[in-house]
Amino acid sequence: MTLNVEPLHTLHADFADLTLDEALIALRQRFDGRIAFSTSLGLEDQVITDAIFRNGLDIDVFTLDTGRNFTETYDVLDETRKKYGRPIKAFYPQTEAIERYVTIKGINAIYESVENRKECCYIRKIEPLNRALKGAQVWITGLRAAQSSYRADMGLFERDEQRDLLKFNPLLHATSGQLWGDIRKYAIPYNKLHGQLYPSIGCAPCTRPVAVGEDERAGRWWWESHNQECGLHDGTANPLRKAA
Ligand code: ADX
Ligand code: SF4
Repeated sequence: MTLNVEPLHTLHADFADLTLDEALIALRQRFDGRIAFSTSLGLEDQVITDAIFRNGLDIDVFTLDTGRNFTETYDVLDETRKKYGRPIKAFYPQTEAIERYVTIKGINAIYESVENRKECCYIRKIEPLNRALKGAQVWITGLRAAQSSYRADMGLFERDEQRDLLKFNPLLHATSGQLWGDIRKYAIPYNKLHGQLYPSIGCAPCTRPVAVGEDERAGRWWWESHNQECGLHDGTANPLRKAA
């Protein structure tokens, strides 16, 4: 297996000007280990899933089913599976952990404290993500710089030291106009909530529509004063880490 020792600036230089299709094909040719793509079934992820399946690439596509997704999100999952006939592996929370949490703290304890909310994100998303990424050399995400000031500082390639892998964000500089262009061009299934002022879609209890002019991620964990990350991407993957 090719080790992840290539300097990030070399990867950035080689991939910066490639289209999404070219970048995914080049990635597959460059690394011989397992490449895994995490899809939340949002707009960016649907465009990437389409590119992977349309090009017949050997890249594992998986989703984290938190058990609290919108019905519309499950509809996209089903439509996508039917359109491409390729597996999208679903990862679930550990039964005992979620049973304990809900029994002791309650199904909606997420609104009571940031700590409770982060614990729910850990059980429903981060622990399953860590399992899904076991043995992967490269993790592909649909992160975009325009989504928030935190994400604006991300790189096309990053090292995920905690999980010991390379992270690739191929749509980092894509605009939503470009994404919608691909959705139309390739007739890609998309979440109907995007048409109802939900630019960013997570779990149902933690996502609301945004007002015109608000940031794309303003509807995520909106009741918290300054938190628009759940720990998947900001390195706060430890459940018992002090709440932000
Ligand atoms: S989150 O951290 O706030 O939930 P967001 O919804 O913006 O993330 O999605 C950013 C990227 O994180 C997605 O492109 C996807 O790669 C990954 N991701 C987020 N939620 C999930 C999920 N439920 N299943 C798989 N991947 C996800
Ligand atoms: Fe739990 Fe909300 Fe995090 Fe989903 S987004 S895992 S419901 S706290």
